[in-house]
Amino acid sequence: MNTKLKSIKKKMVPVSKKKAVKKAARKYSSSATLNVVEDSESSLYNFLNKMICGDTLEVMKKLPSNSIDLIVTSPPYNLKNSSGNGMNVNTKTGKWAGNALQNGYSHYDDCMPHEKYVKWQNDCLKEMFRLLKDDGAIFYNHKRRVQNGLIQDRDDILKGLPVRQIIIWKRSGGINFNPGYFLPTHEVIYLIPKPNFRLKPKANAYGDVWEFTQEMKNGHPAPFPVALIDRIVSSTNAEIVLDPFMGSGTTAIAALMNKRNYIGIELSPEYCDVAKKRISSFIEQQSYLLIHS
Ligand SMILES: C[S@@+](CC[C@H](N)C(=O)[O-])C[C@H]1O[C@@H](n2cnc3c(N)ncnc32)[C@H](O)[C@@H]1O
Repeated sequence: MNTKLKSIKKKMVPVSKKKAVKKAARKYSSSATLNVVEDSESSLYNFLNKMICGDTLEVMKKLPSNSIDLIVTSPPYNLKNSSGNGMNVNTKTGKWAGNALQNGYSHYDDCMPHEKYVKWQNDCLKEMFRLLKDDGAIFYNHKRRVQNGLIQDRDDILKGLPVRQIIIWKRSGGINFNPGYFLPTHEVIYLIPKPNFRLKPKANAYGDVWEFTQEMKNGHPAPFPVALIDRIVSSTNAEIVLDPFMGSGTTAIAALMNKRNYIGIELSPEYCDVAKKRISSFIEQQSYLLIHS
């Protein structure tokens, strides 16, 4: 676990200090917005450092073009539309039995016909690309898979988008103990930048294979590990970070850890609540450390 994450876990806030912590929390959260340059696109400021509960395409359409520095996201993978014995609807004994995702998301069934899913994701990516500033970038996490003997390498979803690099995320393990397969332990992250996107100095030394253990202690069925998103955010100079499939709020936490602004969009009111509580408790913990350091 990296040192930033360790420091977050240091102490809980005692009840007697609540007032002071709330005051410091206001200070901490506003310090995350200090670097934002005011411009005429005032509507963006209605979304800053907020979780917006709604359909991602509808919400993104309300955001101004060329306004976002960094988009980090992991969409639903359409896992219930599966040709294998894994994530089929109602599978009780398949290779994913016992996996939290088997029960699906709270407000989304993750089971579209493949062509419809591809079009939806391509539309989402094009909308994200519209939002990017000229030196912005999208980090889009997905999984390649084989269905009916054919490779789904996600080329169709990425059609028309300028992919610059494929990063491999190596997890520590998987859950698919099928004797017909080696245990799957990787996912991919597509870097889709606008032309002027550059990493921070020396960040390129991380290479293109990243090893991070998947998140285990999170009520959401498919959360990012915070350290993975911290790697992405801290490798850029982004001031505004958007996650259009925010789930439990991991991208917001990584943004705040790096004193950046976030915007989160999530369909499920349940996960929106989880994210909001997680963000508040993170800010309170940081503020506690601030006034006790
Ligand atoms: C892979 S999960 C993201 C998890 C997130 N990275 C985290 O760390 O918790 C995908 C999320 O997309 C949400 N989702 C599905 N359809 C959506 C839509 N049309 N608009 C917004 N969010 C949607 C699901 O509810 C789910 O939480």
